[in-house]
Amino acid sequence: MKKIIIINGPNLNLLGKREKDIYGNKSFDKIYEELKIFSKEAGIDLSYIQSNHEGTIVDKIHEIIGEIDFIIINPAAFTHYSYSIYDSLIASRIPLIEVHISNIFAREDWRGKSVISPAAVGVLSGLGTEVYKVALSYIIGINK
Ligand code: DQA
Repeated sequence: MKKIIIINGPNLNLLGKREKDIYGNKSFDKIYEELKIFSKEAGIDLSYIQSNHEGTIVDKIHEIIGEIDFIIINPAAFTHYSYSIYDSLIASRIPLIEVHISNIFAREDWRGKSVISPAAVGVLSGLGTEVYKVALSYIIGINK
């Protein structure tokens, strides 16, 4: 069974409450519930972590080396400046998809730059909370 982890960065615990016009009105628990059903049907073992702390994310990436087949990561604000998360992703050698709920290229200039993207197989940005399901569908598709 393929193992996929979703890693969510800072403030994504506030999904459904924060800036609903940008991030939608679904909590991540609700989104995850739907993704769990979808991955179960596809025979995928899906797990999830959210942290507001850069070091916790780096530690988690170290912990899953050799354990996880694919990462779906929304690094949130860490996208724009966290070289330590970038380095840990590269060191892990685990393939990853970077996702963003909003279109980071259509917002403030500083959001248009991701230091994480060079480590990613691909990047999805601006499809709303559906980005997680689209990323999951891609991974399921290439593993068929
Ligand atoms: C985000 C975009 C980031 O710029 C922002 O800091 C977030 C969420 C997104 O999903 O659109 O917290 O990654």
